[in-house]
Amino acid sequence: MRIGVFCSGGDAPGMNACVRAVVRTAISEGHEVVGINRGYDGVIDGDFYQSCNEGMTMGLRSVSGWSKEGGAFLRSSRSSRFRTPEGRQQAAQTLQANQIDALIPIGGDGTLTGAIELAKIWDGQIVGCPGTIDNDLCGTDFTIGFSTAVQTATDAIDKIRDTAESHERMFLIEVMGRHSGYIAVHAAIACGAEIAAIPETPTDISGIIDYLKLLKIRGKDSIMMIVAEGDEVGDAATINRMLAENGCPFSTRTVVLGHLQRGGSPSPEDRLRATQMGLAAVRAIHDGQNGVMIGIKGEDTIATPFLEVINGKRAIPDHLLHLLDTMAN
Ligand code: F6P
Repeated sequence: MRIGVFCSGGDAPGMNACVRAVVRTAISEGHEVVGINRGYDGVIDGDFYQSCNEGMTMGLRSVSGWSKEGGAFLRSSRSSRFRTPEGRQQAAQTLQANQIDALIPIGGDGTLTGAIELAKIWDGQIVGCPGTIDNDLCGTDFTIGFSTAVQTATDAIDKIRDTAESHERMFLIEVMGRHSGYIAVHAAIACGAEIAAIPETPTDISGIIDYLKLLKIRGKDSIMMIVAEGDEVGDAATINRMLAENGCPFSTRTVVLGHLQRGGSPSPEDRLRATQMGLAAVRAIHDGQNGVMIGIKGEDTIATPFLEVINGKRAIPDHLLHLLDTMAN
């Protein structure tokens, strides 16, 4: 079989490790792998990764050392052309013309939604791997990139705590997570933050003010408030303004961590999970599966239909929210 692999949507640390696992597993089991550059744009254009010795197909050595590298060597994109029927038609034709039998897209919900649309007009197999720092997909405990993003956010927040203590300030630190508070909650617990604002729970400005006044009376010098970018009230700057208008008892500053969280060498957990998932994706294709995303639940590698992943709502476990509250109080 000829298997195409590509990265799509926001890049995530560990995507390279996943590609490496796909290439090594597929070749060792007698398949060919074509690396597709620039996500769905590359599928449309037939933009294939060129290996020095193997040309259009990737060789075992072409992915040497990839597991420790951040970013996406195959590049990534959020393809606007693929959102059009013409773009998808062109993609299907390109896959057919290059005798590609199966695809392994590595990405988040947008990537899997694209795969569902492609499957309507192309009869190859598609098995996805969850690559997004947001950890917002059902069908897996952890997505590729999440662990590294939490590590990066934690390092940054710890540093900010130092200066916050020196100046007896409150910091509102915005972390990524368009629709998800996973990075915010994990980083907040890891850093001993006092407050987290996330889209999954209501953010109550006057309740936060009361709480801050209480912390001030208790002698707290510095406050870390972690704000998920997708919080329903607004971003860190908006929440900061609202707190000021409502009598915030601390002097405040805001920091937006932004794309910093998407870069850097992947953590051991991300490398391991990405490798396990890449291998499982090839095996799933080999076994004839189609329209599923590989995930890891506990110790098991599982496959979940794309529609179930896309339609599901990934909640933050109550025990984590409770833990955050208990530690902050
Ligand atoms: O989906 C991953 C993510 O990093 C989100 O957390 C964030 O909202 C978004 O991508 C940013 O996307 P872009 O890089 O296109 O601005």
